[in-house]
Amino acid sequence: MQKSGKTLTDDQVSARVEAILAGMSLEEKIGQLNQIGGAEWSQGPKPEEVIRRGGAGSVLWLNDTRKFNALQKIAVEESPSKIPLLFALDVIHGYRTIFPVPLAMASSWDPDVAERAQAVAAKEARAAGLHWTFGPMLDIARDARWGRIVEGAGEDPYLGAAMARAQVRGFQGETLGETDRLVACAKHFAGYGAADGGRDYDPVYLSETQLRNVIFPPFQAAVKAGVGTFMSAYMDLNNVPASGNHWLLRDVLRGEWGFEGFVVSDAMAVANLVIQGHARDARDAAFRGLYAGVDMDMASHTYSNHLAGLVKDGTLDPAIIDASVRSILAIKVRMGLFENPYVDETLLEKVAALPEHRQEARRAAQRSMVLLRNEGGLLPLAKTLRRVAVIGPLADSMEATEGSWLVFGHKPAAVTVLQGIRARLPQAQVSYAPGPDIRRDLGNMFEDWMNEGKTPPQTPEESDAAFEHAVDVARGAEVVVMVLGEKANMAGEFASRASLDLPGRQEELLKAVVALGKPVVLVLLNGRPLSIPWAAENVPAILEAWEPGSEGGTAVADILFGDANPGGKLPATFPRKSSHSPLYYARTLTHLPESSPNYRSRYWDGLPTPVYPFGYGLSYTTFAFSNLKVSAAEVKLGASLEVSVDVTNTGKLAGDEVAQLYIHQRAGLDSRPMRELKGFRRITLQPGETQTVTFTLGPEELGYWSTNAGKWVQEAEAFDVWVGGDSTASLHAEFNVVR
Ligand code: NOJ
Repeated sequence: MQKSGKTLTDDQVSARVEAILAGMSLEEKIGQLNQIGGAEWSQGPKPEEVIRRGGAGSVLWLNDTRKFNALQKIAVEESPSKIPLLFALDVIHGYRTIFPVPLAMASSWDPDVAERAQAVAAKEARAAGLHWTFGPMLDIARDARWGRIVEGAGEDPYLGAAMARAQVRGFQGETLGETDRLVACAKHFAGYGAADGGRDYDPVYLSETQLRNVIFPPFQAAVKAGVGTFMSAYMDLNNVPASGNHWLLRDVLRGEWGFEGFVVSDAMAVANLVIQGHARDARDAAFRGLYAGVDMDMASHTYSNHLAGLVKDGTLDPAIIDASVRSILAIKVRMGLFENPYVDETLLEKVAALPEHRQEARRAAQRSMVLLRNEGGLLPLAKTLRRVAVIGPLADSMEATEGSWLVFGHKPAAVTVLQGIRARLPQAQVSYAPGPDIRRDLGNMFEDWMNEGKTPPQTPEESDAAFEHAVDVARGAEVVVMVLGEKANMAGEFASRASLDLPGRQEELLKAVVALGKPVVLVLLNGRPLSIPWAAENVPAILEAWEPGSEGGTAVADILFGDANPGGKLPATFPRKSSHSPLYYARTLTHLPESSPNYRSRYWDGLPTPVYPFGYGLSYTTFAFSNLKVSAAEVKLGASLEVSVDVTNTGKLAGDEVAQLYIHQRAGLDSRPMRELKGFRRITLQPGETQTVTFTLGPEELGYWSTNAGKWVQEAEAFDVWVGGDSTASLHAEFNVVR
């Protein structure tokens, strides 16, 4: 492999940065802080012109290898200081080979899967000429109405931090500068997942306690893992826009955590400071954004239009600009862009054709699927079946299989569930009917830009005919596989929902098919927890396949026919109704806890208990947890203890279980959540095999940020600990932390 910036010491990097900086004009420095759009619809002057005068440091929304080289040539040969450009794009869950969406990857409870997936994504994207991805998204989301829950690791900060570390390592490698990796970007800092009502972009109100204990841990983990860049979020956080938030970006991120990379705003977020009622005008927005700690302005041209004026009239200290330029140049130096600014235009096709990429995608999809129900052992299905019906609007949809947020210009090419089943049953008659169409009530901006979603809706007659046809097709089968859920554009940005039901007439169709009395398997393709209480009681087998990527249909077939045994677990609670959102397991106790009969007082029109709790998931085999031991009944403040448990495969097949450890601090300065995940391990067990799993609990796991103390504390108090296969685990022990 070519060597690059990764062999440089910190001192060598700064010496290079200082040498470059010394030769730059103010205009060129401001250029480095300007990220311009390369798409046709991007605002501003033509990229070539801006780049030629040194007016841009980075280009986004472009996915064209030859154009990358052409623009880079202008930057390194014609611009005044010849500084190479950073090419950036949202590479969220794969570039050419599409992996399961991040929420699905979190369902694997296997950080190694996420790391390997992002390493493949990085390799393909880098081969295409990209340097920088806007991922991982680290927003904790406890409200499934928020569409972007699909892009993150779900509701839990501990699981979220593990997935954050893994993804940063996967994208970046050990250190920045590997020639087959990207710079990662931890986004959206911070709080975006807690939008009021789950409505995308709406204001967020989070106490410092929630921020520090719940929202920040994945971001802090990313900093510790060496993430190169951060993205500031759009929305108001406690009435201060995140992209104008000095406390977040300077005091916490740099001051407390020691982050040394650079911060890019979300798209147009600097200009938005005016719309949001924070800045008076664009000039004021430029000042506020930079002063707050946004180094690079994504796509709004606010810095390039106003920073020079602010320096010239003495409002802005040019040292602030220098500091931002330094952090951007340092990344370019570390990435080796000065030595290797161009990409080999023949590389991508070779890299994307590597068979191991498809294999990794298939394995990741298998490991991320969650078996929610399997009454009477309906699954796995026999490969001797002769007549199978595959029904549903997503059964043959490549788009729904690859899921939301694919890279610009990518054409979905997934193996669909229908294709996967047909390939597994070459002798059988596998019939298919999509049933009635499903669609969003309101389109989204991506559809407007990309000219999608313009087909007219089905008429009621067409919908009825499709419904009847689907029921007829099901009637002729020995087993029916229903593939229902959400289309790719139903989760993601601009894709919040007020309802978490199966959209359209899908549940009606499901009921009609179940009423035929055949064995029915429900395969869900969706990007968020859905409320499926009827299915959970009436459909014998349910597989949550999420948006499983290029090999999704193959992986579904692997699981349906027993070539793989599901072992994924839910990374977010499945509420009974959307109106129960936000619903999550790590709540504090109330004076009427769930164990009290008066718990019914929460709502009088139905219990708010989840349909499926956090951490839940079945297997084709069964497991037992026993012999829970703590290494000491007492542990001193600051010291660690060990918790061990035996996990036994009590069934007849090899399979995976995720041992999950939860703690509860019984009393203290603040009330503590009734349960908090503080350890997990996914293990494979042969039938009859027992493994002892050991977890360590130290000050990091046992401490928290206290409202009453206004700082991090660890207290000498009594603790409960549970270990089991989900967040309702009952195997219990206790210990005391003492002085
Ligand atoms: C807006 C989104 O919020 C962000 O996640 C994304 O990275 C940028 N646009 C760039 O496409």
